[in-house]
This record gives sequence, C-alpha cells and structure tokens, in this order.
Amino acid sequence: MSESERSHLVQQLRDETPGASRVVHLNNAGCSLPPQAVIDAQVAYIQEESLIGGYEAADRFASSADEFYTYGAKVLGCAPEEIGLCQSATDAWRKILYALPLHEGSTIAFDESIYGGNLLALTDGRNRFGWQLQPIDLSESGAIDLSHLARVLQEGSVDLLAISHMPAQSGVRNPLGEIAQLAAKARCLTLVDACQSLGHAPIDLRKEGVDGLIFTGRKYLRGPRGTGGYFLRADVAADVVPLGPDIRVAEITDCDLGWQMRSDVPRLEHWERSWSGFVGAAAALKYLSNLDGDWIWARITSLAHLVVGALEPIRGVEVRRRTAEEGGIVVFDLPGRDLIDARDRLRALGVNVMFAGPQNAPIEMLRRSERGWLRVSVHYYNTAEDVARLAAAVADYLADETR
Ligand SMILES: Cc1ncc(COP(=O)(O)O)c(C=O)c1O
Repeated sequence: MSESERSHLVQQLRDETPGASRVVHLNNAGCSLPPQAVIDAQVAYIQEESLIGGYEAADRFASSADEFYTYGAKVLGCAPEEIGLCQSATDAWRKILYALPLHEGSTIAFDESIYGGNLLALTDGRNRFGWQLQPIDLSESGAIDLSHLARVLQEGSVDLLAISHMPAQSGVRNPLGEIAQLAAKARCLTLVDACQSLGHAPIDLRKEGVDGLIFTGRKYLRGPRGTGGYFLRADVAADVVPLGPDIRVAEITDCDLGWQMRSDVPRLEHWERSWSGFVGAAAALKYLSNLDGDWIWARITSLAHLVVGALEPIRGVEVRRRTAEEGGIVVFDLPGRDLIDARDRLRALGVNVMFAGPQNAPIEMLRRSERGWLRVSVHYYNTAEDVARLAAAVADYLADETR
C-alpha cells in the first residue's frame, strides 16, 4: 500500500467512526469507539424490536446474528461451529474453565501477567474444586518466560495452560504458536485470553494450534459492551459439560429428569441474550474481517512508537516501554501526582486515557510494587495529531503546580 493509499484508508476509517472527530480516544484497550456499521446494526435491531416484539425481531434478524459465527470464524481462522457467544471475556473464561474435564488435583499453569478477573476464577476453582495453580514467570520484558514454561510443562503434569495473549497493562504480545507447541508436547490443553488482542494483533488459529480462546466485543474489536465470545476446538467442545446448562444447550427428555445435551449449538451459550448486542458484535466482526490484520498491527505499533516518542521528553513523565515488540498499549507514570486526578483532567481536555490499577495484572503489579499506570491504547483510527494532543494535555497538567 502506498503512503497516499494508507492515509486515504485512515481517513475513511475515521469518517466511519463518528466519535473520532469529537474526542481524542486513547482508551481502546478499555472500550473502543464503534464504527457506524456497528451502531446502525444495533439501532436497527432495537427499533424493530420496539415495533414488532422481541422474539419476532430476533427471528427477522436471525441471519444478521448468524454472522457472529461466520465472521468470528473468518477473523480467527476456525470453523463457525467452533465459535460461541457470551456476555464478556470474563463470562467466556469462567464458562470454559468450569466446563472442562478438570477435577480435584488438576493443575492449571498460568502466566503472571494474567488479568485479575481471570485469576479470581482460577482462585475460586482452587478453593471450590481443589485445582492446583502453577504460575509461570515473566521475563524482564513482561512476556511469558518460555524457558520457565517449558520446564514447568516438562516437570509436572499440567492439565491446562491458561495464558494471556496480550496483558491488560502492557502491549507485550506472547507468541501463541510457540506456546501451543510446548503445550502440545506436554499433552495439556491451552486456553488463550485474546481479550486485548482480537482486532489488534493478527490471530490465525489454523497456525497457532490452541484449544480454546476468549475475546470481548468492546475493546479492539470495536463492538458493543456486554458482548464477548469464545473459540473451542470441536473435539474439545465435545468433552465440555457446562456448569448449569440452560435450554439453549440441554433438553429435559423425561419426567424422571433425564436430559440430553444438544450438539447443534455452541455448548456454553445461554438462550437469552442481548440481541442488539449480538447483531452489533456480528457487525464488528464483519467490519474487522474486511481489514488486513497485518496492516492493523503495523499501524497500531507505529502510533504506539509515536506515543512513546511524544511522552518521553516531557519532564515528570516516566514511560514504561520494555520491548520494541509491544503493541498499542503504552503505560506511563507521573511520579508524585494522583493518577486518577490526571486521568480526569485529561478527559476534561478531550483526551481519553485510562487508569490501570493493580487488578489489571495483580501478580505482576503487586510483585513489582506498581501503584498503577496511566494507560494509553491507540487504535488504527488514531492519528499523529491525537498523539500531539495527548502530549500537550499531559504537559499542561504537569505545568499546573496546584495539582
Ligand atoms: C487481558 C484482559 N482479559 C480479560 C479482560 C476481561 O474482559 P471483560 O471485561 O470483557 O470480561 C480484560 C478487561 O479489561 C483484559 O484486559
């Protein structure tokens, strides 16, 4: 793509994003601005529902909603039958964990950059079901220490490896293919948290060979809040038994309460769902499927480098950048300043960043005694002007001695 084609594409993506001209939105790892196609899909559904009834609208929109599976499969590189809908990444994570054939004494290995909500589910499983938890060290860069991982997998009988593709508080991208190969050698299942990476870094499950993966709608995918999903390899899905199946996946077959699990729908779904969210998430997956994943990654990483270059020279700012291999998440500290106050002040100036506290990655952040960070997360629709506005707003905040 030539330089002019690239800038034309960025302009088009901005034109298709109503919020992009109103705010400098650098909180895409929190919740991205949706494209018009997602907004239109949701609004059309809500209008229809209000006019003809919820069940009737769902029937009328069935084929748009089904695109959740077709485009989900397209962007992930799997079969539509291997995709399921959930309310969030956390919802998908728990449903998969509790449904896998794990029992008392089963060992789950996980990286120390794990998201707090995911860790709570593992801890709950340890307390409730007697799972053994085995943390995997991080290297200095914040990526998973592959040699420690290999040792743990060789030494013990790990049943499940639960890892972050891209942690919440750093844009480090862990190498899925290499990790899945190590896990396959040790004959353990691999579950990947791709909550921050879908729509950000390219994923191709045909190559990466993992068994399960979870994602959320609202982050880099640019879908609605309250939506998420998962991939489960077909042969793994056949062995999972949902904790508390509902009528979407099981049927009571006789008055003695015999039941039968259906095989024609994704195993972990529930019957009731936000249909406007469902069609919106389908529209977001379709939108993503029309873009080139390598281009997205290159665009986001180059913007992240601009962010680092713009923030580092400002006195009073400490940027944490640990490796050139990081994606669109850049975190920084303003020593001596209240980071929530700083976030609010930037927001008042029309620049959205997030405060990422220790619960984003409790083990890593508590071990390193990190109080939290201001997190900037760029998407492909951000521009060099957005980055300049961020730097000006941060400098402006620091210049105010009263804060
Ligand atoms: C790495 C990571 N995993 C999981 C989650 C949870 O996603 P959700 O809020 O959609 O459940 C988050 C949310 O910030 C996250 O950053």
